[in-house]
Order: sequence, then C-alpha cells, then structure tokens
Amino acid sequence: MSTTDQQTLSATDEGTDVPVLDIQDLSIEFHTDGGIVHAVDGVNLTVQVGGILGLVGESGSGKSVTALSILGLIGSNRAKITSGKILFRGEDLLTKTESQMRSLRGSQIGLVSQNALSALDPSFRIGDQLVEVIQLHQKVDKTRARKIALEALEIVALPEAKRRMRAYPHELSGGQRQRVVIAIALACRPALLLADEPTTALDATVQKQIIDLLVEINKELGTAILMVTHDFGVVAHMCQNVTVMRKGRVVESGTTAQILTAPEHPYTQGLMNAVPRLQLSAGERAIPRSQRRLFEFREQSLTSAEPVLHPSELGSTELESNNVAV
Ligand SMILES: Nc1ncnc2c1ncn2[C@@H]1O[C@H](COP(=O)(O)OP(=O)(O)OP(=O)(O)O)[C@@H](O)[C@H]1O
Ligand SMILES: [Mg+2]
Repeated sequence: MSTTDQQTLSATDEGTDVPVLDIQDLSIEFHTDGGIVHAVDGVNLTVQVGGILGLVGESGSGKSVTALSILGLIGSNRAKITSGKILFRGEDLLTKTESQMRSLRGSQIGLVSQNALSALDPSFRIGDQLVEVIQLHQKVDKTRARKIALEALEIVALPEAKRRMRAYPHELSGGQRQRVVIAIALACRPALLLADEPTTALDATVQKQIIDLLVEINKELGTAILMVTHDFGVVAHMCQNVTVMRKGRVVESGTTAQILTAPEHPYTQGLMNAVPRLQLSAGERAIPRSQRRLFEFREQSLTSAEPVLHPSELGSTELESNNVAV
C-alpha cells in the first residue's frame, strides 16, 4: 500500500480515548406472528479506535441484528429497539434522523456482508458502482471519483484493477467480488468497518486472503473493524478482543488471549471445541509470539481426529426455540 493510498484512505481518530463504537445495554425485539423474539438482549460491546473486535456466537445468537442495528438497517418494521445506546465516536446513533444515518452509512461506517453478489448491482460496471458511492458522500467530480475508485480497488489488491473498473459483477470470481465490496466499503475512509461473516461464501484459500486483506487494511489505514464470525480461527488470527453472544446476550467478553486460553463460560468452551475453518499456515501468523498459545489451540483442533463440526451445528435444537416468548 503506497503512502498516497494511506493519505487518501485513512481513519482519523488516532489518539482519542473515545471508542469508535460503544454499544450499551442494547435490546432489540421482533414482534412476529409466533410471539416476541428477543433477538438482542442487553448487549454491551466496544470497538476501540483502530481495533478489531470479534463478535462470535452460534447461528441465531443475534450477531447480525446487532451489527445491522448500528447502521439502522435491521430491515423489518416488526423490529423494536427497546433499550440502549449505540455510541459511534461518542454520539448516540439511535437519536439520529434517517437522513443523518443515510449520510453516515458508507461514509463513516462501512458494511461488508456475507454475500458479495447481493451487495453489488448486477447491471452496473463495478467502477460505476464505486463512483456512485464516492460521489454520494464526497463532493468530487467524476474524474476525481474514478481516481479514488481505482485507488480503492488497488488497496484491496484486485488484479488488473484499471481494466476491471469496466467489468460487471458476474465477470469476477467470488473472492474478487468480495474485494470489490470491501473497496466500496472503504472508498470513503470509514472509521469503522462492519464485516458480517465476510468470508463464509468463499473457499478456504480465498477466505484466508480476504482475512489477511482486512488485517492489512486495519494495520495500514487504521480502520476499526467489528468482525462477525463463527470461527475462532479467524478470531485468533485478527482480533484483539472478543465478545461472545448466545441467545441474544453477551455471555463473555475480553481480550482474545483471555478468551482463547481460558474461556470461562461453558458455552464459549463448547464453541471453541468446534474446529476453526480458516486455513492458516505457520509462516503466516499475524498474532505476536506472546500470543502463541492461541495458535497452539488452533493447531490442536485442526489436527484432532474429531469430525469437523460447524459451530452452528452446536445445540441446534435449543436454537429452534431461541428467545421466543409467546
Ligand atoms: N426480520 C426478523 N424477524 C423476526 N426475527 C428475526 C428477524 N431477523 C432476525 N430475527 C431473529 O433474531 C435472532 C438473531 O438473528 P441474527 O440474524 O442476528 O443471528 P446471527 O447470530 O447473525 O446468526 P447467523 O450466524 O446464522 O447469521 C434470531 O432468532 C432470528 O431468528
Ligand atoms: Mg448473521
């Protein structure tokens, strides 16, 4: 990444003590025909400026609803926020108007979701989609917007970025499309990136590349990341802190070293017994030597003779009745 790139795309909060994101006592319920679903129940979590927080939990535990609520994108008129604050750089997003939230989305908070295909418009060239987002948030002419777009594609290491500006989404591989989605999310230099299982739809090698890209973006640009994942391998590789959710509640939170080496909650221990899916090789460790034990944990689980178990397979029967109070 060049110095120019860093100047063009860098977060700005370095040196402040106020966390970039501080969710306090957040509760969200859905009023469904089957009763009230307490999807998020008194959740607290914090992402420090320039930090990466892993938000972990089994399927249905409330990770996505929490992440989407930050952008005001829960997407259901049956959803109700019943308590809490979502402080972004110290300001409560729950008090913002829709138009204030619109200008915040994409410019100060970027979203990378699981399905890159649905995040891109199939009928527009990727360069045009980037330019549109840039011009929505920045007062720049088209030539300047195209330059910023190209820089963003270069930062996410899209091969032949200049030529690919003219490509349609279907002309790219899954991994390349996810790079484009990350470029769009980064184009306006957000202070916070919400990454909701950004690698789930990708094969293991490409997953690793995208995770490495996010780590590089965090290091080089200082972009804070809320990383939603099922995978403790991903957490060990990239997160300084972890919050573990179950049935809408936070069951445990702390530093990655604390949680991975001495998980207190039986649920966290159960999740960790599920084999992480991210393929890392010994030469590619992003965690300092001092946290070596995290990798010992991973390597043991990767070489264990037990069958591979996806965390969402844990306690699935319990999940069916998850949080429903009729
Ligand atoms: N629009 C909705 N209407 C009703 N219930 C919903 C809606 N969206 C989510 N829920 C419920 O909220 C709970 C939390 O869902 P959420 O999508 O946040 O889970 P998750 O932790 O992201 O799971 P996954 O790992 O499968 O993505 C679940 O019980 C889910 O069924
Ligand atoms: Mg989800």
